[in-house]
Amino acid sequence: MSELALQVENLVKVYEPRGLRLRGRMPVRAVDGLSFEVQRGQIFGLLGPNGAGKTTTLKVLNTLIRPTSGGASVLGYDVVAQPLDVRRNISVVIQESAAELFLSTLDNLLTFARFHSVPVAEARSRAEKVMDLFQLREDAARKVQDLSGGFRRRVQVAKVFMVDTPVVFMDEFSTGMDPILKRAVMSLLREEAARGRTFVLTTQILSEAEELCDDILIMNKGKQVARGDLHALKLLSENVYDVSLTFEKLPEDIEQLLAPLAPRRFSVSGNNVEFSVKADEARVLALVAELAKRERVLRVEVSGASLEDIFVELMK
Ligand SMILES: Nc1ncnc2c1ncn2[C@@H]1O[C@H](COP(=O)(O)OP(=O)(O)O)[C@@H](O)[C@H]1O
Ligand SMILES: [Mg+2]
Repeated sequence: MSELALQVENLVKVYEPRGLRLRGRMPVRAVDGLSFEVQRGQIFGLLGPNGAGKTTTLKVLNTLIRPTSGGASVLGYDVVAQPLDVRRNISVVIQESAAELFLSTLDNLLTFARFHSVPVAEARSRAEKVMDLFQLREDAARKVQDLSGGFRRRVQVAKVFMVDTPVVFMDEFSTGMDPILKRAVMSLLREEAARGRTFVLTTQILSEAEELCDDILIMNKGKQVARGDLHALKLLSENVYDVSLTFEKLPEDIEQLLAPLAPRRFSVSGNNVEFSVKADEARVLALVAELAKRERVLRVEVSGASLEDIFVELMK
């Protein structure tokens, strides 16, 4: 089996307008020459604003739609030539099918496990655990179509943990999850990735990717805008630092002291001051040292730009 989880080469997907009412509409180049590779055992994040082409990329990789040109493979299996081999090795969290909606929560979990050849007894015991984790026990016998949107999503995500497919795709996985469940799912993803499972997530929620993903591709209008781990991406947002200081006694002229660095953001609360500056690291540290000479500093935190800063910078 290939060491790579995914291999995407010059992928293009054009949606042609169809139907009489769409006559005169232009084709949409949803994915426009995307190339990337993902190693096994990674949590890979596909990031981008609405309409960037994230879901389309996922659908091609899941063999749900065919590429217009270029190619992609999952674990070395070509998505066009070997779709069944691809499907055997993946679980997908994307919108649900009619059949899934008609089944109960429990039957959704068991059917999914059966499809992936998990023995019946094993499937039953996994379903118990999974229903506990996702707080689905009360809804075990209810048809998924009768659940709220958030709970339907839970059933979808829960299925992933019924099986051991080496690659998992999740489109906006956290939609409709409360923060506690989201935490639990994130830590489960990390555990399973550590054991070699590969996760491919799309999200518009940057903090989620920042916390979870080892490897991030930012896309916009079907094209790659940036690629790398969080550290590499942070280098792209040239020298933006967030500083938070707690003084024993706040210097009265704090605002004037900071003025030479033209902080982008500045706020004071009690003896705590927070600001964000664009400067090289040495200059920021010199400033902190300078401030510490004025009044005793009890706490200092200097952090690099958030993924959000980078995103804003890149989308300009
Ligand atoms: N079935 C479709 N037919 C025509 N255009 C589509 C279809 N699905 C998506 N698109 C268009 O392709 C572009 C990318 O969509 P999508 O892949 O859903 O982006 P994302 O998931 O990043 O929001 C958008 O302009 C969208 O309107
Ligand atoms: Mg989408």
